[in-house]
Amino acid sequence: MLEKEKKIWMDGALCDWDDARVHVLTHSLHYGLGAFEGIRAYRRANGKTAIFRLHDHIQRLFDTCKLIAIEPRVSFEQVMEACGELLRENGLTEGYLRPVIFVGDGAMGVYAPNNPIRTTIVAWRWGAYLGAGALDNGVRTKISSWVRHHPSIALPKGKIMGQYTNSILAKREARTAGYDEAILLDVHGHVCEGSGENLFIVKDGTLITPPLSASILGGITRDTVLRLARESGIPVLEQPFARDRLYLADEAFFTGTAVEVTPIREVDDRSIGAGKPGPITKQLQARYFDAVKGSDETHPEWLTLV
Ligand SMILES: Cc1ncc(COP(=O)(O)O)c(C=O)c1O
Repeated sequence: MLEKEKKIWMDGALCDWDDARVHVLTHSLHYGLGAFEGIRAYRRANGKTAIFRLHDHIQRLFDTCKLIAIEPRVSFEQVMEACGELLRENGLTEGYLRPVIFVGDGAMGVYAPNNPIRTTIVAWRWGAYLGAGALDNGVRTKISSWVRHHPSIALPKGKIMGQYTNSILAKREARTAGYDEAILLDVHGHVCEGSGENLFIVKDGTLITPPLSASILGGITRDTVLRLARESGIPVLEQPFARDRLYLADEAFFTGTAVEVTPIREVDDRSIGAGKPGPITKQLQARYFDAVKGSDETHPEWLTLV
């Protein structure tokens, strides 16, 4: 259970946590059309709170709305502002932000173009997404029997509510089988990503991740890690690969706002490298934490002070 906070932002104004309610005929609840984001704010080494890459997250939120052809009734700037306001009002110096743009109640049936488009933002405290120890020791993963969305069936570049049934099925399957996380392939057998995170491998000193043309979400953490790797002089390839290259990787890790940079120590009961976080993973994890909450101020454009 997440810890209740004081306020939630609904359609342009703050309301009390318990008053943020919707009707059971909310269209998105029935059919899953809606956009959402996951954003983290951190307290930095200098004691100030900053939201990490807020503009990029809100851009993806509005891009997702464009992909699914819904028109938010709130502006980009309003949502940006509201994220900071929500943290301040709740007295959160660190936390996770969840903006959701969804189709409200009115008409039913899949074609309901005139239902109101509603926006809410919730903030809460959230620790290590894959559990204590995951960031230090790495996680055990399983290749899912579920295949990642095909771009002719869904919109992998959108963070679309209904698409997450695919992630939930994969995650449940992995957890039921005793693993921490699922890895999804595409219909051709190329490695895509985890249920809610992008994936990287390291082979002979080169960092490799599936390209944006793959059926993956264009992760903001993925982009951050690619930039930090390039700045550190680590060779980088964005290239498709199948599960055999993943099994034979020297290192592997997940990236995501929720998982941050989490090492993968096992895939399908095969150890990755030495079965513990490798040196490039550890280096990039440290650089990531320095950028989001440490003293690395070399990317001021990534930080929105609260
Ligand atoms: C399916 C999926 N892939 C990747 C990611 C990582 O994206 P980001 O780094 O922007 O959080 C997420 C999380 O939003 C996700 O849901």
